[in-house]
Amino acid sequence: MKTGKTALSLIMGASFLLGGTTAVIAADGAAIAEKCERCHGKNGNSEKDQVPNIAGLSSAYFIGTMEDYQKGDRPGKEFETEGHDKIDMNAIAKKFNKEELDALGEFFAKQTFQAHEQKTDPELVKKGKKLYKKLKCKKCHTENGSEAEDDAGILAGQWMPYLQSQFDQFKNDKRTQPKKMKKRFDKLTDEDVPALIHFFASQK
Ligand code: HEC
Ligand code: HEC
Repeated sequence: MKTGKTALSLIMGASFLLGGTTAVIAADGAAIAEKCERCHGKNGNSEKDQVPNIAGLSSAYFIGTMEDYQKGDRPGKEFETEGHDKIDMNAIAKKFNKEELDALGEFFAKQTFQAHEQKTDPELVKKGKKLYKKLKCKKCHTENGSEAEDDAGILAGQWMPYLQSQFDQFKNDKRTQPKKMKKRFDKLTDEDVPALIHFFASQK
């Protein structure tokens, strides 16, 4: 009992010395993150265009998203890699407890999101930029969708096929979204969607 307490105060003392902001986390985020690598790539920068980059996401957005997958508020598409059975993010998220999600969230927030070089159409990019401003997407997705601290994902330089799948989910009410975003999504025409996707994908 006594040793336990001493050890705990030592750990807390150490984290205080390190700046006080680092929480004491028992689960090893980097080790658990290796389980994500076969789909999300090394340190969360994905080489597969159906699978989003998760490097650099804010831990608040990351944890909220994983909890949505756990609850089924967000559907995950089944995905298969060589040598493994198909699995979706709902089943993956359920493998982790709160402590492990915190550790993963902290790990991925520290990684750098690498924007993908993708072929975009300059006309669509121009139209998408206008829509982004006119529809005030920028209220919540600041800096052309590149700011992790918005806690609304990272859109700039994200894979286009992944973005397309999420636009489809929002439009069909398969994924929950803030009311103010839904109001704007309901107004989007079939021509607006590719323009916005090309715009976000063209950003670095
Ligand atoms: C079998 C492949 C696969 C594995 C393994 C996998 N993921 Fe995913 N992940 C996906 C796919 C595909 C999507 C997009 C799914 C969708 O929502 O339709 C996704 C989406 C996500 C998102 C949403 C990103 C965003 O911008 O909203 C997060 C967060 C995430 N995964 C975290 C993880 C973590 C953490 C691990 C490891 C513990 C992991 N994933 C393992 C395939 C995988
Ligand atoms: C009121 C704030 C708000 C506005 C306005 C808004 N969004 Fe969002 N957006 C969010 C939040 C919050 C999320 C994360 C939702 C979640 O938790 O699943 C999100 C998520 C997204 C995602 C998915 C990100 C990912 O990584 O999977 C896309 C794509 C998106 N928004 C596009 C748009 C577009 C396009 C507009 C303008 C037409 C818009 N949003 C307007 C708040 C907003």
